[in-house]
Amino acid sequence: MCGIVGYVGKRECTDILIKALHRLEYRGYDSAGIAVFEGDKLKTVKAKGKINDGLVEKLKFEKKLTATAGISHTRWATHGEPSDINSHPIGNGRVSIVHNGIIENYRELKAFLISKGYGFESETDTETVAKLLDYYYDGDPIEAIAKAMQDIRGAYALGIIFREHKNKIFAVRCESPLIVGKGNGENFIASDITAVLEYTKDYYLLEHNEIAILDENGITFESFHGEEIQKELKTADWDISAAERGGYNHFMLKEIHEQPDAIRNTISPRVKDGLPDFSECGLTTEKLRSYKNIYIVGCGSAMHAGLVGKTLIEKLARIPVVVDIASEFRYRDPLVTADDLVVIISQSGETADTLAALKLARSIGADTFAIVNVVGSSIAREASMVMYTNAGPEISVCSTKAYAVQVAFMYLFAFQIAYANGKLSEEKCKELTAELLEIPNYVHQCIDNESAYQLVASKIMNASSLLYIGRGLDYALSMEGSLKLKEISYIHSEAYASGELKHGTISLITEDTPVIALATQSELFEKTLSNVKEVKSRGAKVVMICCEDTNIDDASVDYKIGLPRISELLMPLVTVVPLQMVAYYTAVLRGCDVDMPRNLAKSVTVE
Ligand code: F6R
Repeated sequence: MCGIVGYVGKRECTDILIKALHRLEYRGYDSAGIAVFEGDKLKTVKAKGKINDGLVEKLKFEKKLTATAGISHTRWATHGEPSDINSHPIGNGRVSIVHNGIIENYRELKAFLISKGYGFESETDTETVAKLLDYYYDGDPIEAIAKAMQDIRGAYALGIIFREHKNKIFAVRCESPLIVGKGNGENFIASDITAVLEYTKDYYLLEHNEIAILDENGITFESFHGEEIQKELKTADWDISAAERGGYNHFMLKEIHEQPDAIRNTISPRVKDGLPDFSECGLTTEKLRSYKNIYIVGCGSAMHAGLVGKTLIEKLARIPVVVDIASEFRYRDPLVTADDLVVIISQSGETADTLAALKLARSIGADTFAIVNVVGSSIAREASMVMYTNAGPEISVCSTKAYAVQVAFMYLFAFQIAYANGKLSEEKCKELTAELLEIPNYVHQCIDNESAYQLVASKIMNASSLLYIGRGLDYALSMEGSLKLKEISYIHSEAYASGELKHGTISLITEDTPVIALATQSELFEKTLSNVKEVKSRGAKVVMICCEDTNIDDASVDYKIGLPRISELLMPLVTVVPLQMVAYYTAVLRGCDVDMPRNLAKSVTVE
């Protein structure tokens, strides 16, 4: 949801800002812009469209900018359509800002500012902040920022520059993420560290009610009362190559290929003497024995990973698990108690609804356990216990490796909780854990089956709608498959529990409605096969994803995608690969922008 970058140093900053913005483009790509200190003025260039289509084109017609400090923005539109005028930076020549978040009381602030004689050009909530800063500014930026922030309600990360304070950048945040990068003779602000990894790995995490002040000589932090704050410098362990495409046509394809390593990095460090070990986060055996219910909360793919977790935990540990969409959980007065564990799953660690769900669970007194990818993110910091999924940066908006590691983590967690509760013997737990450790090799093998995925993609690419069906674990996976396809190829699809089709949805089936059937669980295979025959006899073309040695006659399905036969319980970890790959190749064949699908942004920091 919008990306922010600021640079101050000795080098000309335009190219640095644009390069860094590109790394944040996954956060939104409706428009982009920069504001820099050019001579004695603040120079702003901004345009609708992706960075290269709008901003970079526009800059070609500008006199070369020589500024060495400025702020920049890539937008995911909330208030006001994507347009030049609604693009950031927003300002009036005296103060200019970039904003990620939503100002909830902007109407009230706007009315106040209009009463003070201000006019408004854009439809954005952000313009009220720019004008409010201008209203309070009387030569002292800290005072103006502190006063303005006291009037604002909502979520924000702001980069601010004042014309009269040449080559200084100010930053504040509340809820929305922002890091302050410390380089050598140059300093940065950014929505996340990947934007500036090329220049530095050292960064500070800015907290609410703190103001960061950057110039080329250094970074200081002050409270709203002007007191200096000392902060701990952190170092990112992500490498710049992790944030680059590295020879792949798309980040999505690269990230699918990274899954074996990502799963390994997630699981291996949490296995000790052959058994899962969660001691790093304080999730002790005593605690795991004490929970009455488990809630798993997340959004989108993260929630889908939770659905796999539910099946595993209930099957192995016999503890009731509720999986909830974060935006529902937070408003439905959930039955969570202080005896429950609330597991929060999030790649970014910044999803607004997921963060709110976590805070709600904490306020009820439940233990909260966050499974997060981005180190130091808001969810990681808020949860009572946190473990990281170690997948490295995920750049493609469409989640692949982050989902895969969340699912892998669910396995380890289910084994651990079942073992702690005496439902799994030590021997069985070790056996399952050993099998889990072997999974990366099988994932690798599945990724290599590219021609099968390309063939299926070519057969479904012209469909206007299709169905994914499955039972049990396969149903959980079919939801993820359906989301991947619609998200990046714009083909409508729905996931259905196979047995539920007859209760209405089968009326959608025609010869133009392909069905992707997942059938990896032997005890449910015959049932799913019957459902496949039902849709096939109504004309549907059927793609079946099942183990490669599964015996099905040619008349039952049109295309078969074979998977290595591994322990049935672990099949989701390999089943996800064809789902991702078929979605990927379908989107490519349809000419879609795979890594930046329309209307989406990766990190959803608004409700
Ligand atoms: C789908 C996708 C989204 C995210 C969801 C949650 O490909 O990426 O559905 O899974 O927005 O995001 P995080 O995990 O960052 O909380």
